[in-house]
Amino acid sequence: MDIETIAKIAHENEVPLIVDNTVATPYLIRPIEWGADVVVHSATKFLSGHGNAVVGAIVDSGKFDYAKYPNKFKNFNQPDPSYNGLVYAQALGVGSPFGANLSYIFKIRLTLLRDIGAAVSPFNAWLLAQGLETLSLRIERHVENAKAVAAFLEKHPQVTGVNYASLTSSKWNKLATKYAPKGSGSVLSFEIKGGIEAGKKFIEALNLHSHVANIGDVRSLAIHPASTTHSQLSPAEQLTAGVTPGLVRLSVGIENIADIKADLETAFAAAK
Ligand SMILES: Cc1ncc(COP(=O)(O)O)c(C=O)c1O
Repeated sequence: MDIETIAKIAHENEVPLIVDNTVATPYLIRPIEWGADVVVHSATKFLSGHGNAVVGAIVDSGKFDYAKYPNKFKNFNQPDPSYNGLVYAQALGVGSPFGANLSYIFKIRLTLLRDIGAAVSPFNAWLLAQGLETLSLRIERHVENAKAVAAFLEKHPQVTGVNYASLTSSKWNKLATKYAPKGSGSVLSFEIKGGIEAGKKFIEALNLHSHVANIGDVRSLAIHPASTTHSQLSPAEQLTAGVTPGLVRLSVGIENIADIKADLETAFAAAK
């Protein structure tokens, strides 16, 4: 995603840019430095890293001034009857006694968190804190393995295409080089020859890879979207979502690369 350009367009149109940075993590991409106003993460994925915690994070840069657009952001500029008439953009925004623009993040805490109770459990917070300590090491290995897997897939005779922005053949490579010079993460997809049946057989034959819809676990994960996550859509609808019949998505883990490749090769043999 061209963050800098989209941020510029968003601001010209007087709206904040909110970026979901779950797949990249702050180790690979730092969206606020490119103009994003808010960054969100499903910390269930790479940030905690072990597929064992349900937790999320919202990071507010405090750069977007909601008080400037009272008609567009009424919830920030009119008294909130559920919170003693607080006007978020004034009491907590630019020029507030806090010395920072906290209107967005405080509104989330004071109303959303209060009303729906989406608070992380202490145990999951602890799992996240532990996971974060190894984020850089894990991501370095995830990226190293993902690059090797992408190169392996690109040369494989049963593969007709690989989607991974760090490959020089990718149409997204220029953006990846600009925003994610260390590598474009470890979630990638490829098209297997033989369509839907080959995709299903491939997944069923994997041993090292876990067959799950999750991403960002230290273990390698795989899924065939056409027969699982997107199976309720018609084939035409699947195509509009980029889900072709033979598409396989991988979240490349941190195992030994030889083991990952051997598992993929076993599955390719079964899918013939
Ligand atoms: C990129 C991305 N963002 C957000 C989510 C939502 O995560 P959660 O279910 O933890 O809210 C997911 C889940 O798959 C995801 O892949």
